[in-house]
Amino acid sequence: MNQDQLKQAVGQAAVDYIRPHLDKDSIIGVGTGSTANCFIDALAALKHDFDGAVASSEASAQRLRDHGIEVYDLNQVGNLEFYIDGADEINARLEMIKGGGAALTREKIVAAVAKTFICVADASKEVDLLGDFPLPVEVIPMARSYVARELVKLGGDPVYREGVVTDNGNHILDVFNLRIDSPMELENRINQIVGVVTNGLFAQRAADVLLLSTPQGVQQRQR
Ligand code: A5P
Repeated sequence: MNQDQLKQAVGQAAVDYIRPHLDKDSIIGVGTGSTANCFIDALAALKHDFDGAVASSEASAQRLRDHGIEVYDLNQVGNLEFYIDGADEINARLEMIKGGGAALTREKIVAAVAKTFICVADASKEVDLLGDFPLPVEVIPMARSYVARELVKLGGDPVYREGVVTDNGNHILDVFNLRIDSPMELENRINQIVGVVTNGLFAQRAADVLLLSTPQGVQQRQR
């Protein structure tokens, strides 16, 4: 099985996971990235069985609409049962690094609202220690250099993701060489830097369920 097939399998597994809980009024939180895209494509087969979705990026919103799935603004929605999204890294406590696709802030917002966060990932995303993947930090553009200097003080090597503007009009710094022993502590610490919108550590809001795609099948882990 190649990586695309692993992603398709876990996208379908997430649809199978939520299907028994859906009704005509259900609104589903949908993430961003290639694995989330596989989920969206599999979800399209059920489009008459639920009301619509809230998306964590313009790209996912467009893909949902292309499938004929209604997309709601989060402010129109009371609560969400599920949020389904990928990860760049995930550890045994289901803490994650996310934001490789620059959608981290909206992902964190939709995940905060949802009752159950289902992470869909292939086995390459599973790690013992978070941090090999550079940690994305979304910053207000005028604060970029200041935030970068503060991140150096925390031991990281920030690199400006040139040419990328987030859906919120901000910039991304990718922080290399961080040793992330305490994800929750580091998440809070980086968020304290003035000019940071959010960072890609999902420790305060870790996943509740991990669907991990392996060549032997999709494994399920709970927190
Ligand atoms: C988007 O900003 C990210 O958080 C993605 O969820 C993450 O990068 C995983 O993407 P892939 O499924 O494409 O690996």
